[in-house]
Amino acid sequence: MGVFITFEGCEGSGKSTQLQLLKDYLTKLGVDFIFAREPGGTVISEKIRSIILDKSHAEMSDECEALLYASARAQLLNEVIIPALNAGKMVILDRYVDSSLAYQAYARGLGFDFIAKINDFALNGCPPDLTLFLDISPEDAFKRKGGVDESDRLELQGLNFHTKVYEGYLSLAEKFPSRFVKVDCHGEKLQTHEKIINILKEKGYLR
Ligand SMILES: Nc1ncnc2c1ncn2[C@@H]1O[C@H](COP(=O)(O)OP(=O)(O)OP(=O)(O)O)[C@@H](O)[C@H]1O
Ligand SMILES: [Mg+2]
Repeated sequence: MGVFITFEGCEGSGKSTQLQLLKDYLTKLGVDFIFAREPGGTVISEKIRSIILDKSHAEMSDECEALLYASARAQLLNEVIIPALNAGKMVILDRYVDSSLAYQAYARGLGFDFIAKINDFALNGCPPDLTLFLDISPEDAFKRKGGVDESDRLELQGLNFHTKVYEGYLSLAEKFPSRFVKVDCHGEKLQTHEKIINILKEKGYLR
């Protein structure tokens, strides 16, 4: 069996940045890995993604959205993740079920049990071996990007929502201590990258 690693964190926490650094590192090392972003990663999942992201779907209910995420994830799991793990590959995902728990369960308020239940059905229990949570508050991430416009009602509302997401992630870290690792990512990009490589080595996933 391969190893299943997911990256989680708030908007702008540096997931894409760190994933690119990790992909370059693994490629140089000759590690057999696959990468996918959520929602997406298969023809069907990308179609579901476009339904979720379509701006004209303003009437979409929170429940519909949560089920669509789980559907896209189920397809990715069956079509891509499980075959890759069975082939002994390292599977790396930009977001997975913890994003649904942080965003839909905690921030949107649909509750942990409901989101966990639909994802348990969709995924038939297939948790990651390791979840790297890029730990930076949305406030600090916004500051790093150049700051939130205080006069912008939507940006301020956004910060409240994203703070709930962040708190959701912290709850998940407490709930799943064996697989959830917090990575302080306030430092330089390469410092965070080094921390991630060290964690993968400590876990025995890299030499
Ligand atoms: N350690 C860092 N120091 C300074 N800037 C950083 C650092 N990490 C990331 N950034 C910058 O912060 C911004 C957001 O990073 P990135 O796109 O990787 O985040 P993300 O978690 O993938 O966001 P999203 O959830 O929106 O996909 C980018 O402009 C990136 O260059
Ligand atoms: Mg990203």
